Amino acid sequence: MIFASAGSAVGLGNIWRFPYETGQHGGAAFILIYLICVLVLGMPIMISEFLIGRRSRANTAGAYKVLAPRSPWRWVGFMGVLAGFLILSYYSVVAGWTLEYILEAGVNGFAGKSAEDFKGAFIAFSQSPARPLVWLVAFLFMTHYVIVKGVKKGIERFSKVMMPMLFMLILVLVFCSLSLPNADKGLEFLLYPDFSKVNSDVFLGAMGQAFFSLSLGMGCLCTYASYFSKDTDLSKTAFSVGIIDTFVAILAGLIIFPAAFSVGISPDAGPSLIFITLPNVFQQAFSGASVLSYVFSLMFYVLLALAALTSTISMHEVVTAFIHEEFHVSRIAAARCVTGGCIVLGILCSLSLGVLQQAQLFHLTFFDFFDFVTAKIMLPLGGMFIALFTGWYLDRKLVKEEVSNGGTLKVLFFRLYIFILRYIAPVAIAVIFINELGLLG
Ligand code: TRP
Repeated sequence: MIFASAGSAVGLGNIWRFPYETGQHGGAAFILIYLICVLVLGMPIMISEFLIGRRSRANTAGAYKVLAPRSPWRWVGFMGVLAGFLILSYYSVVAGWTLEYILEAGVNGFAGKSAEDFKGAFIAFSQSPARPLVWLVAFLFMTHYVIVKGVKKGIERFSKVMMPMLFMLILVLVFCSLSLPNADKGLEFLLYPDFSKVNSDVFLGAMGQAFFSLSLGMGCLCTYASYFSKDTDLSKTAFSVGIIDTFVAILAGLIIFPAAFSVGISPDAGPSLIFITLPNVFQQAFSGASVLSYVFSLMFYVLLALAALTSTISMHEVVTAFIHEEFHVSRIAAARCVTGGCIVLGILCSLSLGVLQQAQLFHLTFFDFFDFVTAKIMLPLGGMFIALFTGWYLDRKLVKEEVSNGGTLKVLFFRLYIFILRYIAPVAIAVIFINELGLLG
């Protein structure tokens, strides 16, 4: 159970999105606020998603119908499904990029290149009209295959081996990155908070990243929890997933920033950050040992693509299960709708980085717009409703029964948990939203 949920949580959110969000929001202070969001908002809301899923044994929207029949709560489920669909569309674009990098690493294409070369190559690749689309479609087909062939169990078993490997490789890369010249500047960026840079964007960014990285706010973990057994300790599982996820994100930061500062890549480079920084680590850290750099870079991108796959599967599953159960179409037809829809939206997102750069919504490219609307609006809003639903709507006895597995587990912080769900989480999320809109001056 822990591995399935952790497989969903650990993905591009940790290794790609966390470093660039940190870079764009000034470093250490952002990380501090992020950690607070994970602990105070993430953990209680994750436990709530788990208990909603396990209690109802249904897909996200169905769960609200079971627990709150004929009430508007099911709209929280609908919003989650939509968020999952939108995230999957642009997430697959980036997941497709990892395939290009597997190929590049496989043909030893990083050898002998400079930081400028990597930057130029990435820009040329991501802006070209055709190549990223091929990878995008390939990645969505892979996800589709896993969903319809029912090899999900296999993938999950597989992720038990793969995740520790990825973890180990990340540790090696941390050491490599820290050994680069001028790495200490990157470390300083990560460790010394500069609170003068903190504004409402930083809070919204950190909160959104916490939800995104933990797969929260759209019923993803809720769907997984509907398969949990009666004896799964929900709070322990939530803390384990939270710790694994956070650890991977921080380690990714420890790879990216020392390397970025070392080779002179600006930390606020945005979504391209890891794709232009990491190849440098492989190139420079193993100076002289080109076999090592070849093996490690290839392994890394393969594992990254697999980590992304366990995440895309979890999103695809939410939308497919919803269409299958609510519209009474077969699972295959439901999965085809999801894959087809994501291909169309994904193509839009991908092209918006190149030829469609001028076609903007609210001054954002499609790619950035999708990211903003989902991670910074829909997920926190979904989280807020999940907190309100568990804290106020559900019967307290029922909640206690689920969290304590019918009284067999001792629950230490139950009152605090309910207090956070009732007051702290909804108020904190609302204040961050209102602040961002500029209504608090
Ligand atoms: N958490 C995953 C990552 O870090 C992405 C993801 C999977 C996700 N399922 C989700 C994000 C549901 C938001 C909601 O890569």
